Amino acid sequence: MSTLMGKVIIVTGGSGLLGRAMLRQIESEGAVAINFDLRRGEEDQHFYEVDATDQSALRAALARVVSDQGRIDGLVNNAYPRPADRGIDIEEDENQQSRRQKVDLQLNSYVAACQEILPHFQRQSSGAIVNIASIYGVVGNDFTVYEGTDLKTAAPYAAIKGGLINFSRYLASRVGPLGIRVNCLSPGGIFDHQAPVFVQNYERKVPMKRMGNPEDIAPPVAFLLSEGARYITGQNLIVDGGWTCI
Ligand SMILES: NC(=O)c1ccc[n+]([C@@H]2O[C@H](COP(=O)([O-])OP(=O)(O)OC[C@H]3O[C@@H](n4cnc5c(N)ncnc54)[C@H](O)[C@@H]3O)[C@@H](O)[C@H]2O)c1
Repeated sequence: MSTLMGKVIIVTGGSGLLGRAMLRQIESEGAVAINFDLRRGEEDQHFYEVDATDQSALRAALARVVSDQGRIDGLVNNAYPRPADRGIDIEEDENQQSRRQKVDLQLNSYVAACQEILPHFQRQSSGAIVNIASIYGVVGNDFTVYEGTDLKTAAPYAAIKGGLINFSRYLASRVGPLGIRVNCLSPGGIFDHQAPVFVQNYERKVPMKRMGNPEDIAPPVAFLLSEGARYITGQNLIVDGGWTCI
């Protein structure tokens, strides 16, 4: 059983679908669970209004957490900033500026948060980072599950999440000697009232025959942050009901 008793853990994007469950889980295991988001979540005990794509805002907020709580033990990079054209098909995507923006918002912002937390972890010679990636950073998309729906998934997302997984390996190797661990967690598709035809298509394919729930993702995130994972670093824990095993 993983326990986070006494730790101070930050989740970016903690007001969203997955972040809410992560904060709840972290709190239930005895930690101070801190939400860095643009908007306050209904259950938040510790909310900091932070634009997670703004490196200087991240730096200032981390300093405030240390001043308020004395330390930081874990960071979950989970925020999901995205522009309006996020689902555009590659054949129609002629906006180079927007592609750059997606990489900035979804990959460079996670890298920046890692950079900013490192001095705090270095001072303590301990700390754990969990970067939330995706099955679409591990395998190619099965476009048949989108048939009959207007749901889309775009090329930059695959590149960003794949890049995030290998960036996390780089960082794990770099900061392992300092007592700092870095892992990824890659969720499969999470049920969020998508079109019934999509849900059916998805459930037909996935070995466990259902989409994931936020409560399937939160406990393994907590595990990666906990002492139980003290010898685990540079890994990508895939939590997908078996999607990527076939
Ligand atoms: N939902 C899924 O099916 C799924 C599957 C695989 C991976 N993921 C990944 O999980 C993570 C969370 O996704 P989600 O589905 O919970 O998304 P969500 O949209 O429900 O929540 C994202 C949260 O990020 C916050 N946010 C957006 N821009 C921000 C910014 N600039 N600064 C701070 N906070 C900001 C939003 O306010 C929101 O609370 C993302 O990294 C996503 O890629 C999600």
